[in-house]
Amino acid sequence: MKSTIISIAAAVFAFAVPAAAQDAGEGEYLSACASCHGVSAMGDGPMAEFMSVKTPGLTGLSAANDGDFPMLDVIHMIDGRSGIGGHGREMPIWGARFKADNIEYAGVYGAEVIARGRVLALAEYIESIQK
Ligand code: HEC
Repeated sequence: MKSTIISIAAAVFAFAVPAAAQDAGEGEYLSACASCHGVSAMGDGPMAEFMSVKTPGLTGLSAANDGDFPMLDVIHMIDGRSGIGGHGREMPIWGARFKADNIEYAGVYGAEVIARGRVLALAEYIESIQK
């Protein structure tokens, strides 16, 4: 079920509207992530100094993983609902927030698909800014 929804969202975002998905991911990044991770994703957003752990930069994830972008880890890290990051995690649980945003008009299942699409668009944006 989980992977089916990810595949559907992946198909929609990756093949149907690549340019739009890219823009969606960037817009989402600037509004939800840049406050901590920084506009250029160097881990230097204005909120970073208030975190009890260091806010990481996000442009070296491929370099730290032998040149391969760790797509699944990034999706799980952003989504947050699989428990990655453990207790004491400072990153907001975006999957839950994005879902809550849309439950009222899209229903539980529709909101889940939208949440996964937003997480995927973000992960693809982060992949596109690897150095
Ligand atoms: C309130 C500050 C804050 C915001 C907002 C935030 N993050 Fe984070 N993020 C962190 C911190 C701190 C960590 C380090 C791990 C932890 O504490 O959970 C982190 C870790 C990460 C990681 C793992 C990086 C690695 O080196 O493995 C990714 C990917 C990530 N964030 C993406 C995002 C995305 C995408 C958004 C926007 C949807 C976002 N973050 C919003 C604070 C934030």
